[in-house]
This record gives sequence, structure tokens and C-alpha cells, in this order.
Amino acid sequence: MTLSKQIEGEGPIVFLTGAGISAESGIPTFRGAEGYWRVGSRNYQPTEMATAQAFASMPEEVWRWYLFRRGVCHAAAPNAAHLALVALEQRIGDRFLLVTQNVDGLHLRAGSSPARTYQIHGNLDLCRCRSGCPPAVRPLPAAIPADWAKERSLTDAELSALRCDCGDWLRPHVLWFDESYDEPRYRYVSALRAAEAAVALIVVGTSGATTLPARMCDMIAARGVPLIVVDPEPTVFSALAERSPRGQFRRGSASVVLPSLIEELDLPPS
Ligand code: APR
Repeated sequence: MTLSKQIEGEGPIVFLTGAGISAESGIPTFRGAEGYWRVGSRNYQPTEMATAQAFASMPEEVWRWYLFRRGVCHAAAPNAAHLALVALEQRIGDRFLLVTQNVDGLHLRAGSSPARTYQIHGNLDLCRCRSGCPPAVRPLPAAIPADWAKERSLTDAELSALRCDCGDWLRPHVLWFDESYDEPRYRYVSALRAAEAAVALIVVGTSGATTLPARMCDMIAARGVPLIVVDPEPTVFSALAERSPRGQFRRGSASVVLPSLIEELDLPPS
């Protein structure tokens, strides 16, 4: 049965993306050979850097690492997979939802709407006061350049720009390993609601290492709606899809597989 025939009901088509969708844009994944959790920074274990504890003890070092990663993202451009999602959203409107683990901002830069894009791990272009001063989330200060060489240090002007008016540090708006999802900052409940209502979940480029995506996929499999996984390698999600009655593992790269899969969905414009 074709994919489009498997989709029943008026609910949303939900896409769940990970670092793999941006790999062909030149941004390293996390757990791949050159991945961020493999390479990390010169002095510290990678995942150590991505914690509130690390920020408490070495805020400058953590900022330097995130500004370097942000520079890599700004040097990258969205690829055919990001653009195919934008075209589909423009076609089907509110029947479209995108849940992304990526903090690289490429979905929004490609043209995905902020309203239908849940950035469940944050975004490197955003920050917030560590003491919680309003506004809850804000753009990085203009004094912080996007282009950032790996070993570059922060100038005094940049260091003071990364302070809130209250005197405390501004911190990157990313979900750290020693922190929990919530709704106001990371759309936790919205993402679960999307999995409850979805008529299909299409998972692209994620190894399935984090809890909210895993819960979403389990909910979809338990509901028996189509679970389609796009990845060049088998993952825990592709195995779940292959065990599911209406699951499929489409093995290949996002920029090749996703545009044709979206065409195959053949969804009427709304
Ligand atoms: N197209 C599609 N998928 C790809 C491609 C590609 N061109 N290249 C690699 N992949 C796949 C890999 O096979 C792997 O399954 O993308 C996945 C990347 O997995 P990870 O590196 O683990 O990244 P991700 O799943 O996004 O990590 C999830 O973990 O540490 C946290 O916050 C971090 O958001 C991140 C989360």
C-alpha cells in the first residue's frame, strides 16, 4: 500500500528531525565519527561542556565552545531536505508540524515557520539570563559576532555583553544534559500532544539518544499510525519502525530520500 493511502484522518503530519538532516549542510552530527560528542573541546570531555554544572564552573569556556559551534552553523546553508519541509508546510499549513532537536537554526533559516517548529533543545542564536530575568529567551547580543574561530577568546566588550542587566551571566538557550524539558522553553507538552494527534510521524536523521523523541516514537508505534524513518544507518527508531505494522525504514541520506518521500505523500493543499 502506498504511503499516502496509509495516512488516515485529518490530524497533523509530524516530522521529527535530528543532526542528520543538517549533516549534508556541513554541520557535524553528535555521535558520528567527527561528531561533537566525540571531538568536543580541547580540554574537556564533550558532554561535560553541555551541562549547567560546567557553565557554573567555567562560563567563559562553555560560551567559547557554543560560539564556535554557532559559527559552524552560520557558515552552513539549508539543504534540499530542509527546503522540502518548507515547501510542504506552505502547501498543507496547519496539517504540518516540525519537532526538531537541532539547535543549528537551519529549519527557520530555510523558511519553516516558528509557530509550527518546536525547537525542543533550544537554538544557538538565542540566550537567556541565568537568573531568569525577562525576557525568557532573547537573541544573542549584537556585539557577539557569528563568525567564531575555534580557539578564539572573548574580548572584554563581549564578556560584558554576555551579562544580563541584573549582573548575572546570559547563558546559551540550549537544553543541557543535567536539565529537563519543559513547555515554556522547549515545547515539551506540545511535542507530546503532536505525537498523540499525528496521522503519521516521519523521523529524519536522529540516532534516538534522547528521551522526548523516544517517547514520541513509542507513542506513535503504540497507536499503530505510520512511523517512517529516514537514515543512512539503522537506529533504535528504524528497528521500532520495522517492528511496527505501518512502519518503514527508508535507508539513505535526508537530502535524497526526504524530498521524494514528501512527494509520495501526495497531500492535498489546505
Ligand atoms: N541524512 C540523514 N541522516 C543522517 C545523515 C544524512 N546525511 N548523516 C548522518 N545521519 C544520521 C546518523 O546515522 C545518526 O543516526 O543522523 C543521526 C545523528 O545522530 P546523533 O549524532 O546522535 O544526533 P541526534 O540524534 O540529533 O542527537 C540528539 O542528542 O546530545 C543530544 O542535544 C543533542 O540534539 C542532540 C540529541
